[in-house]
Amino acid sequence: VLLALLVASAGAGGARAAGLGGLSRASFPKGFVFGTATAAYQVEGAASTNGRGPSIWDAFAHTPGNVVGNQNGDVAVDQYHRYKEDVDLMKSLNFDAYRFSISWSRIFPDGEGRVNPEGVAYYNNLINYLLQKGMTPYVNIYHYDLPLALEKKYGGWLSSKMADLFTEYADFCFKTYGDRVKHWFTFNEPRIVAALGYDAGSNPPQRCTKCANGGNSATEPYIVAHNFLLAHAAAVARYRTKYQIMQDLVKERLPRFTPEQAKLVKGSADYIGINQYTASYMKGQKLLQQTPTSYSDDWQVQYVHERNGKPIGPQANSDWLYIVPTGMYGCVNYLREKYGNPTVYITENGMDQPGNLTRDQYLRDVTRVRFYKSYIGQLKRAIDQGANVAGYFAWSLLDNFEWRSGYSSKFGIVYVDFNTLERHPKASAYWFRDMLKKN
Ligand code: NOJ
Repeated sequence: VLLALLVASAGAGGARAAGLGGLSRASFPKGFVFGTATAAYQVEGAASTNGRGPSIWDAFAHTPGNVVGNQNGDVAVDQYHRYKEDVDLMKSLNFDAYRFSISWSRIFPDGEGRVNPEGVAYYNNLINYLLQKGMTPYVNIYHYDLPLALEKKYGGWLSSKMADLFTEYADFCFKTYGDRVKHWFTFNEPRIVAALGYDAGSNPPQRCTKCANGGNSATEPYIVAHNFLLAHAAAVARYRTKYQIMQDLVKERLPRFTPEQAKLVKGSADYIGINQYTASYMKGQKLLQQTPTSYSDDWQVQYVHERNGKPIGPQANSDWLYIVPTGMYGCVNYLREKYGNPTVYITENGMDQPGNLTRDQYLRDVTRVRFYKSYIGQLKRAIDQGANVAGYFAWSLLDNFEWRSGYSSKFGIVYVDFNTLERHPKASAYWFRDMLKKN
């Protein structure tokens, strides 16, 4: 049925795989993983179904004026009910892996304490179905959607209690899904939360340092980043001490580190996830007079997208997204040179289009095919020069709820008809399918 659907929609919409730009699986190291990525609030829907509690994004999106068209993720693309169809689709497009996030408040509706068995079952089903289809789950434990109850009770990420609360939630995920999930990410883009949620105030919980009314303290974004780091490290320590297969096998024969030795064995990350989309020039100006209250008091730095009157690249739909394929090479290569070539996954990469194109234009997908061809080509260039990249995830499998832009920004390689929720692969999906063909 699925194959028939793919062929039919290719015929109807005119979407066809385009030239592969010299890329194939064989262009990448053995074992290199290709997947797509999504996030719970952006795709699941079923926001108040089967016991899920609200998150700060539910509250934000339900407040008029916050999201384009006052849209929200109540239904999104309904992956909660359609996960099998979506996994079948990924499989048919030859992907190896799926990076998704767990909704904290679907598991713990109040953020702590009471567990919601239906939420737990949902992720069990998703993971099992992925494995049954031969796909590897890459699980992101937190993607912006803090349980609202924790925001109200403790003040969210400003609270020093968050490291413990997050660790308990993460531990539950490790214990429940860790027999099948071997790749975990703690936080998606913590910097974005600190910057947009606690400095600019444009995202929940809408705290801003420079509001007209004086705003909150300029140290808040840093407290939040600090708490993210502590929460990350505490969750990783919990994983490593409680779920290390080595301890289970070797038991008391395993020597213990002293606290000093443990400090020496530094590094709380086995790999780094990079969401790579764009590039910009930095324009800096040293301020002559420092303002004591400002946290960025000695430098005023701007991101700019042109130099000598020339744009850095064509703009996608989002105002921050300039298409600069060499940014992929630059970023990955920089990590290799400056940080001792750590293992890296490209956890997101993609571009968006506005919401007002025709279905035919979406399916023909000329720009996105070019985008992926050139970005993945630049990734290969960095790998060929020795960068240690283990895998790549396209953002996103489906058109979905793009945070403050609602459904007006389309990142999917698969088109979603939001009247019927039917999925139709775009040309970029077929491009991946052909590029990822085995043998
Ligand atoms: C990165 C974020 O992780 C994701 O949620 C968002 O949709 C994409 N960027 C595109 O803006």
